[in-house]
Amino acid sequence: MPPESSGRAVIVGASLAGARTAQALRRGGWTGPITMIGAEPHPPYDRPPLSKGILLGRADRAGIALLSAEQCAGLGIELRLGRPAVGLDPVARHVALGDGTRVGYDALVVATGSAPRVLPETVADGPRTGVHVLRTLDDALALRESLSAGARVVVVGGGFIGAEIASSCRALDLDVSIVEADRVLMGRGLGTRLGAAAAVRHSAHGVRVLLGRRVARLHGQDRLTAVELDDGTELPADVAVVGIGSRPATGWLEGAGLTLDDGVVCDETLAAAGVEDVYAVGDVARWRARRYGTTLRTEHWTGAGEQAAAVAATLCGTRTEYDPVPYVWSDQFGAKLQIFGRVRPADEVVVLDGDPESDRFIAVAGGEGRLQGVVALNAVKAAIRLRRSLSEGASWPSVIDDLRS
Ligand code: APR
Repeated sequence: MPPESSGRAVIVGASLAGARTAQALRRGGWTGPITMIGAEPHPPYDRPPLSKGILLGRADRAGIALLSAEQCAGLGIELRLGRPAVGLDPVARHVALGDGTRVGYDALVVATGSAPRVLPETVADGPRTGVHVLRTLDDALALRESLSAGARVVVVGGGFIGAEIASSCRALDLDVSIVEADRVLMGRGLGTRLGAAAAVRHSAHGVRVLLGRRVARLHGQDRLTAVELDDGTELPADVAVVGIGSRPATGWLEGAGLTLDDGVVCDETLAAAGVEDVYAVGDVARWRARRYGTTLRTEHWTGAGEQAAAVAATLCGTRTEYDPVPYVWSDQFGAKLQIFGRVRPADEVVVLDGDPESDRFIAVAGGEGRLQGVVALNAVKAAIRLRRSLSEGASWPSVIDDLRS
C-alpha cells in the first residue's frame, strides 16, 4: 500500500527528475507537504544546455531554469538547497542532512543523479587550474570562463559529453582534441560501426580525434600546460575537460538497507528493493525493465521525466510500471543525433538511408531476433516512424525490408 497522499513526501535531489516528481505529485493530487532537498545552491535547472548553450554564451542561468523558487512556493514545495543528504534511516523514516538536521518522510523519492568520474590522482595531481568536469551549472560557467580566444582544449573521454563539448569548442573556433580510450567515439551509445563514423564526422569538423589512448599525465603546476598520453604524445593544452562517464550518487545510502548495484535497485514501478515507501528516479535508478527482461539504468533526460510521472502516479494511488523504449539525443555541429532503444556491441547495424559519416542518416540495430535500436542524425520524422516498430518489438532481421519501404 502506498502512503496516504496527505503524508509527507520528501524528494532528495533537486534536478530534473526531482523537480518533475514534485510537480507530478501536485498534479496527481498529493495534498501533503512536499520537501525537495538539493546539494547545489541553485533551484532546479536543465542540464542539456550546459555543454551547448551555456558554453557558447547563448543561454544563461535564467534561461535554463526548470522550476523557480517562486514556482515552488506557489505549488507548496519546500526547497532546501545547498545541503546534501548524508544518510537515510528507512526504519525511523528520516533523511539526515549535512548540517545535522533530520527530515521525516512518509514517502521518499531518491533523485540524487550521478557524479562525474574523475581521473586517478596519479594522473591529475599536477595543475591546479585548467582542468574541468562538466556536470553542474557552476562547472559549466567555470569552463566557459576558461574558453577564451586561442585556448587549446583537450577533451578526455569521447562519450556524448565529450563529443558535445568538442562540438561547442569548434563553434567557438578553438583548437580541440578528443582523447578516447576506446577504438570508436560514443561507442557506448552508438556501437562500433556508427561510433567509427562519428569519429570521421568529428574530424571533418576540425576536431583532432585520438582513439585507443588514455591520458597518462597532466603537466603544469599552477596552470595546465600539456596533456601527455599513454603512447608518449604530448598535447599542449590550456584547458582539459574530463568527461569519462559518471557514477550514480548512492554514497549517502550505503548501509541504509537498500539494494545498491550501480544504482538503487528497484522493481518495475521504481520502488526501491529492501525498504518500504522509497522510490528512485533519474540517473540513480536501476529498475527492472520488463521489455528487456533485465535491470536497466539510463542517464537520459526524457526517461527522468517519465520515471517521475510514473512514481508520482503510483504514490497518488495508481500503481504504474515504467517500461519505456529508452531515448536519448545529442546536438553536435548543428545536427540532431537521436537514439531510440539501444545499440549493443554485438548488434548488427543496417543503414537505411543517408551516410553515417555525413550530416544525415538513419540506421537500425538488431540482435537476438529483435529490432533493438534506431539511430538517426537529422532525420527526426523517419526516426519517429521507426520508433513504433521498436516499441512493438519487431523481429529481426525480417523487419528490415519493411523498414526500408
Ligand atoms: N581516457 C579516455 N577516455 C576514457 C577514459 C580515460 N581514462 N575512461 C573512460 N573513457 C571514455 C569511455 O570509453 C567512454 O567512451 O570516456 C567515455 C565516457 O562516455 P560516457 O560513459 O558516455 O559518459 P559521459 O560522456 O561522460 O557522459 C556521462 O552524463 O549527462 C550525462 O547523458 C550523459 O550519460 C551521460 C553522462
